[in-house]
Amino acid sequence: MLIQLRNGGTSVVFRATDETLEIAHWGAELGDYNEQSIASTKRSIAHGDLDVNPRNLILREHSRGWRGHPALRGHRSGKSVSNYFELIKHKATKDSLVAHFEDKLAGLLLTVNYKLDQFGILTIESTVTNNSDGDYFLEHLLNWLPLPQQANEVLDFYGHWSKERQPQRRQIGYGLTTREGFEGRSGHDYTIAQIALNSSTYFQSGEAWAMSVAWSGNNIHHIEKLIDDNISIGAGEYLLPGEIILAKGESYTTPKVIAAYSNEGLDGITNRHYGRLRARENHPKRPRPLTLNLWEAVYFDHNFEKLSKIVEKAAEVGVERVVLDDGWFGARRNDKQGLGDWVVSKDVWPNGLKPLADLVTSKGMEFGLWFEGEMVQIDSDLYRAHPDWLLQEPGRMPVFGRNQQVLDLTKAGAFAHVLEQVDAVLKSCKISYIKWDHNRSISDPISDGRPAVHNQTKALYRLFDELKKRNPGLEIESCSSGGGRIDLGMVEHADRFWTSDQNDPLERQTIQRWTGMVIPPELLGTHVGPTHGHQTHRTADISFRVLNALFGHAGIEWNILEATDHELKVLKEFANFYKTHRALIHSGNVVRSEIGNAYLYGTIAQDKSEAIFTYMQLGSFDGFLSLSAQLNGFDPNQTYRVTVQEKLSTHDLIQRTHPGWWPSLEIRGDQLAKVGLEMPGLRPEQGLLLHLKRL
Ligand code: DGJ
Repeated sequence: MLIQLRNGGTSVVFRATDETLEIAHWGAELGDYNEQSIASTKRSIAHGDLDVNPRNLILREHSRGWRGHPALRGHRSGKSVSNYFELIKHKATKDSLVAHFEDKLAGLLLTVNYKLDQFGILTIESTVTNNSDGDYFLEHLLNWLPLPQQANEVLDFYGHWSKERQPQRRQIGYGLTTREGFEGRSGHDYTIAQIALNSSTYFQSGEAWAMSVAWSGNNIHHIEKLIDDNISIGAGEYLLPGEIILAKGESYTTPKVIAAYSNEGLDGITNRHYGRLRARENHPKRPRPLTLNLWEAVYFDHNFEKLSKIVEKAAEVGVERVVLDDGWFGARRNDKQGLGDWVVSKDVWPNGLKPLADLVTSKGMEFGLWFEGEMVQIDSDLYRAHPDWLLQEPGRMPVFGRNQQVLDLTKAGAFAHVLEQVDAVLKSCKISYIKWDHNRSISDPISDGRPAVHNQTKALYRLFDELKKRNPGLEIESCSSGGGRIDLGMVEHADRFWTSDQNDPLERQTIQRWTGMVIPPELLGTHVGPTHGHQTHRTADISFRVLNALFGHAGIEWNILEATDHELKVLKEFANFYKTHRALIHSGNVVRSEIGNAYLYGTIAQDKSEAIFTYMQLGSFDGFLSLSAQLNGFDPNQTYRVTVQEKLSTHDLIQRTHPGWWPSLEIRGDQLAKVGLEMPGLRPEQGLLLHLKRL
């Protein structure tokens, strides 16, 4: 029996036999598909092989002849290692399937849920239940999908502090192409998606199959190519030994795996993800306030007088939210002590935070505050009172990271301590926003002798949800030494991500571009940094810095008291432009391309009536003149007026004259895509801002 899910331009085809379930296809819409059509995929049996040749069994059991990684692995103290699941019932609708399996000998029940949404995004979640006496030691349960043979390359992402989500694209060879993370958080090096594609696939063309695990703890992404050329993609949680031991009647549910297919290149994957996230009930609905974060302005040097001057200036510039960062609590005058004591420091804030919060709110801005609630330092009242609340191997102090240890939030007392202290601070003055940091990886995620990343991750999600419940309207930014915890699990609990500590616009262009692969700009903090970047010590023009910060949840991270008159003028211009156009920036479809050493990035309104593009020259261009930029995604039959936004664009061209069309022209959508616009020659680290309006 064939089951076909169809939605959002994607088809998923399953074949149920009396005993088991196969997945025959995930990808392009196939129209009506039937038993006769599927016959074309039946394979011959090779010499030296078993007498069966299973294709893409959902549970991939070795006992049925599958030769690759099984979906589930576990045992009962070394027994019940071989699995043989039988399909006991299933229920399908046009866009969903729930399949129930039983392995009688192993004493396991297993349910797999598939849901294909209107954006063509397939969500998978599985649950295994121990249905027998005795403990079942689960090693892994991953969710897999088949890939066709034209998927011959893989794109994934690597990174470190201040250089997150760098793309790497390579051939899919035989065996596993794997990315694993066991930092106890998703991490800077986390591949926010693993994307199989064809060598001809690029931003707007070609096929791509992406999978991401919606989880902020340990993770695995695999592509597996077997010697019989079966290719598949799978993802899930990386479980530590003994992390999940199921007693009779207990279950483990995988994190959701989010899978997207596109025949419109990488932009198609991105826009499907954006569609799904934007349609959620909990997606931020209010315009994303222009945010000033004070970290790079003052670091630990908290001083009411200085901060009030910055706040006054911020209000003049048009800032809508001010966030006080690290250093306001306990003994935290530097990064060596104080974490864990979430009580306002009398030393630096003798009158509490209220005077600053009142000043900020009196100017019509919101006030936000930094926390790092999962952490504790040895020099803190919390550690002195509860040295047993660390995640650690009993009897051994874990290595330190930024002089800190990790608090065991799975312990009820520790959880309550953080919840109550944070909640009390929030209620003490008008705090509507939290920036929540996590500045080290978890090297010994052990609670009472047992691995605890799974439970720690869930505890954090619970903590965020509870804080929001107690403080209606509260928004939370997820930060982890910059962009160390940006994933599709956290997106359900946080409202903004701090994309990276890298505020140098040149570096940040790449970080933002690829973080935006699956996370929409309205959730990604992008700040105008100081003139001389604190991370790279490079100097960048204000126009390049503001253009870099435009396509995101925009903000500023700079002591703006040091800004020149010119810089302040451009900042104000930027603030106005962002506020006027953020509804479009935060709802449009993304179009990206690379033109020589320049990045083109645009957002086009869903009805194609309007668009904004930046053209960012990263390095020098190779030829004598620069290149033309093809602008895809417009209505081919409609005419658009293209206007250079000169107040925010660079004026510093290399060529003697501007291109003939400058600063504005009217052109049809198909010509924008096929012929494009001749670009002026920009110096490195200069950018242009274009506005397009349908006539
Ligand atoms: C790391 C974050 O990424 C920074 O933005 C800042 O909040 C510091 N931590 C504070 O310690």
